[in-house]
Amino acid sequence: MNIVILAAGQGKRMRSALPKVLHPVAGLPMLAHVVDTSQALARDLGASARVVVVVGHGAAQVRSAFCDRADVQFVHQEPQLGTGHAVQQAAALLDDDAATLVLYGDVPLVRAATLVALVRAAGDGVGLLTVELPDPTGYGRIVRDWHGNVLRIVEEKDASNDERAIREVNTGILTAPTAMLKQWLARLDDDNAQREYYLTDVIAQAVHDHVPVAAVRCAEPDEALGVNSKAQLATVERIAQRRSADALMEAGARLADPARIDVRGALAIEGEVFIDVGCVFEGRVRLGAGVQVGPYCVLRDVQVGGATEIAAFSHLDGARIGRNARVGPYARLRPGAQLDDDVHVGNFVEVKASRLEAGAKVNHLTYIGDARVGARTNVGAGTITANYDGANKHRTDIGADVSIGSNVVLVAPVTVGDGATIGAGSVVTREAPAGKLTVTRAKQATIDGWMRPKKKREP
Ligand code: UD1
Ligand code: MG
Repeated sequence: MNIVILAAGQGKRMRSALPKVLHPVAGLPMLAHVVDTSQALARDLGASARVVVVVGHGAAQVRSAFCDRADVQFVHQEPQLGTGHAVQQAAALLDDDAATLVLYGDVPLVRAATLVALVRAAGDGVGLLTVELPDPTGYGRIVRDWHGNVLRIVEEKDASNDERAIREVNTGILTAPTAMLKQWLARLDDDNAQREYYLTDVIAQAVHDHVPVAAVRCAEPDEALGVNSKAQLATVERIAQRRSADALMEAGARLADPARIDVRGALAIEGEVFIDVGCVFEGRVRLGAGVQVGPYCVLRDVQVGGATEIAAFSHLDGARIGRNARVGPYARLRPGAQLDDDVHVGNFVEVKASRLEAGAKVNHLTYIGDARVGARTNVGAGTITANYDGANKHRTDIGADVSIGSNVVLVAPVTVGDGATIGAGSVVTREAPAGKLTVTRAKQATIDGWMRPKKKREP
């Protein structure tokens, strides 16, 4: 099938330099949601989809945001003379043997299942997705005859008072047989209040040509919401978030409050998990069964093994965590952090590009960067791997069963052997051999007979 997505409008009311259809909803540009829904629809119908996006305002930016998507073609509409004119720009790319479905780039919540119902109801004729609104202001109204057959769509600005009272409105989404649609588009004129070529005028032409028009009412009015302002963007975002929270709970997640979780990407769960309030999930996150995430955590591109606990206020980015580990509160895992099973990382600990092997513990106020920390090793409070010499980064290799005292600086490149002990306060610059105590601290001295200086008397 052919799918045309209209996205050439300026979106003036967004008051933004970013083209409207690139504004994110649940972490993805609005337009990406519509493209994904198109592909899901085609899959559900067992068809292949040719997706053509009509761009105009901010066209270069929109194209480049989708440059890695081979499944989308773009056509340029310049100037923008209305929705009918927009679809006309795509006409040359549309296959006459398949139907054409028109979607809007700024209506991101429409579901594939709704579109499947629309396409099926249309059959070989025209299908129109409508919605009944308590306040229809601004929308095109669906005009029907005494028998309830659709006659035409009238835009608000062209409507009579009686027509304005109609509460069934046009969502803008329609499907039509392509060859006929092209004929109807060619006959459009701009003889109307807005001097635009209205796509909606093809409905009256279909009726005139005795092509059946099936109007399908959208069961959930939210699906038809368009985004024209930042306030509407926020409304749509909340609905998208609520949908994803519902899907998570359906899959077995216990959410402390489904209204206080934000998923900006894909969050997969492998069983029952608990997520406390205020957590943000970005990119691709996977949580194993029994994972608990405390309040106000941010997880971006993270995998967490089963039964692991992420405590409050932790920030995890690009990390892999094994099973039964404990992270936080107030932990920071940066890209390349790998925590094996049973690892503990506590408060104010930062880990970057480092592997902490099974059972290692780094519980307080520490920086581990470009390092390996062996199994069961304990790193004391305030320890730093000094990985940067001002020009280059170097590695620190700490063996298994090591005990590192508090406030140790490991000046990389440096190695600590298995079973070594490092005394508190040491600055380690050479290899610390396995099984031995290494300490670089100055010896403690007590000075007998020493006196505190006394304040001089003013003369
Ligand atoms: C349109 C419908 C109206 C419907 C409403 C639903 C027409 C004439 N009217 O009105 O019946 O109730 O949507 O929201 O179709 N666009 C282009 N090129 C253009 C003009 C618009 O690509 O030249 C795109 C816009 O970027 C937008 C969509 O088409 O994504 C709708 O355009 P908009 O100007 O918002 O149409 P409405 O007046 O809201
Ligand atoms: Mg609009």
